[in-house]
Amino acid sequence: MDDRQNAEKLPAGGAGDFAAELKYQSGFGNHFSSEAIAGALPIGHNNPLVCPYGLYAEQINGTSFTTPRSANQRSWLYRIKPSVTHEPFKARSPAHGRLMAEFTQSNSSANPTQMRWMPVEIPDEPTDFLDGMFTMCGAGSSFLRHGYALHMYAANKSMEDCAFCNADGDFLVIPQQGRLWVTTECGKLAVSPGDIVVLPQGFRFSVSLPDGPSRGYIAEIFGAHFQLPELGPIGANGLAAPRDFLVPTAWFEEEPRPEYTIVQKYGGELFTAVQDFSPFNVVAWHGNYTPYKYDLSKFCPYNVVLFDHADPSIFTGLSAPTEKPGVALLDFLIFPPRWFVAEGTFRPPYFHRNCMNEFMGVIHGGYEAKGGGYPGGACLHSCMTPHGPDTKSFESTIALGDDMGPRRESGTLSFMFESALIPRICPWALESPAMDHDYLQHWIGMKSHFNRELTDIK
Ligand SMILES: [Fe+2]
Repeated sequence: MDDRQNAEKLPAGGAGDFAAELKYQSGFGNHFSSEAIAGALPIGHNNPLVCPYGLYAEQINGTSFTTPRSANQRSWLYRIKPSVTHEPFKARSPAHGRLMAEFTQSNSSANPTQMRWMPVEIPDEPTDFLDGMFTMCGAGSSFLRHGYALHMYAANKSMEDCAFCNADGDFLVIPQQGRLWVTTECGKLAVSPGDIVVLPQGFRFSVSLPDGPSRGYIAEIFGAHFQLPELGPIGANGLAAPRDFLVPTAWFEEEPRPEYTIVQKYGGELFTAVQDFSPFNVVAWHGNYTPYKYDLSKFCPYNVVLFDHADPSIFTGLSAPTEKPGVALLDFLIFPPRWFVAEGTFRPPYFHRNCMNEFMGVIHGGYEAKGGGYPGGACLHSCMTPHGPDTKSFESTIALGDDMGPRRESGTLSFMFESALIPRICPWALESPAMDHDYLQHWIGMKSHFNRELTDIK
């Protein structure tokens, strides 16, 4: 698309309605180009002796220089001042205290119990996106570039004169309540509940909360980036379509900002550096390493059309791979509104034990295996821990017998993160007042239906 019109529509530094005139580029993993002023992007050179308009050229690499071309990710940013122009990094005071990027016996717990957390309270005291984040569980290490952390956030105010930079990994953010207006070095993204946004390692960004009280989920992956899953026998189309991923267009501000703070997450700890300008001073950029967003309602689900229950992998929206084929560091699965049509089939998710680890959240509505749902909450079923429909869901499904016609599950949106790596749980997650200590009770009372005379399969 020609985003040069963007320069006329989006005044540099203007406040206005953040979302009103945003323009995006479309595609997954494309090599994009964008300029907020026509002619700002050098043609034919990445690093000319003098860049157009006297801009500085700066590369950001999301993969090693020598990563094979098919997986290599990098972008060139053309900015008013280079990122390096800042005061020395200092450990942030006060420290955050509830973020973790390396999971060990000394800082987190192994616990196979089925766990559920009800929606966390949004704090009364002013709390921005960064301070409202807290790690729930994770595995591996950001230092060793292998692993993940699952966080949640509960916040009520916008980040001010402050940008966040995550040196540890990529964030996949899922707002559950309240919109996120995200300003990045590549431009702006307006993200609503029902959307996700991916903020790759190293990009500076700032989050405004136009709706005030806000809550959501964040997955962070170390040493990998999300890909679209292979489609196999599904064919050339289906699930998440590449063209539905949206990337921002260049936007910049040039006014002096005498006390602008960069907060860098590095090894799970926060460091701050002060500079006298906004990091959102990129007038043009090109490359394939970018933030992006995706509207979950665009997901095209595939499922069983005659009998039996598909494995949940059929709902994979994005996947971060390990080196083993078919084994994910972290899969992101989307459970949208959909039809259930299987005949003679127990339709809720089957009883299950899995070598993989499953963390679920609910954006809105219910979830078919759990009566009542828990929007804003989360549950964790770790490696080989049994789980499945609760007693009430099982009995009500069986009671319907042969009367189950096609049924549309509307008004529901939930997701799952699935990983091969076994999570360790953060102490504050285990001690959280949101912990549902009665969760296991949902399966109590399952009675035996064993009957030697019952030989028909319905
Ligand atoms: Fe499962």
